[in-house]
Amino acid sequence: MDLCELVRKHIYCSIVLEKLVSEFLSLYSEKIKKSLKDKSILLKVVSIESMKHAEILDLLAKELGLYVEYGDCRDFVGEPWVIVENLLNELRSGREIDLKKFIEKQTWIEKAVGEETYHKLLFPLISSREVEEKCLNIHTVKVFTKILDKLTLDEKFHEEILKSLE
Ligand SMILES: [Fe+2]
Ligand SMILES: [Fe+2]
Repeated sequence: MDLCELVRKHIYCSIVLEKLVSEFLSLYSEKIKKSLKDKSILLKVVSIESMKHAEILDLLAKELGLYVEYGDCRDFVGEPWVIVENLLNELRSGREIDLKKFIEKQTWIEKAVGEETYHKLLFPLISSREVEEKCLNIHTVKVFTKILDKLTLDEKFHEEILKSLE
């Protein structure tokens, strides 16, 4: 797989993963709305931000000609995907997830998306010479890395919010 292909897959799978995370957070926020109003509001904010991340990545991918729909994100992303999917299925089937387990899992996911994917993986990939030459250019790389910086910062904020729920 060439690096441009890798970038396209990462972006697309990040879009879908952000949407999954957003849905999971929104559902969990609804579940605890009556008993834990304050925590519910904070989670809804993080859910809205995750959806916003999906929209921003979608815009970037489409504007920069990097948009591709990829059918195997589960295998491509691996553990973070599987964890979110399982949690979402638990909630959809009406099962309870206690707050402690929720915080623990979701904190791990935020770290995996922000620090591991956006910062350590996608950032160096996009900054590489091959990607700059073959599928972006010096100007669009700058825009992309700036936005990735912002997304990574947001993920840090999401981790902080989760910590504050303990
Ligand atoms: Fe995000
Ligand atoms: Fe996040």
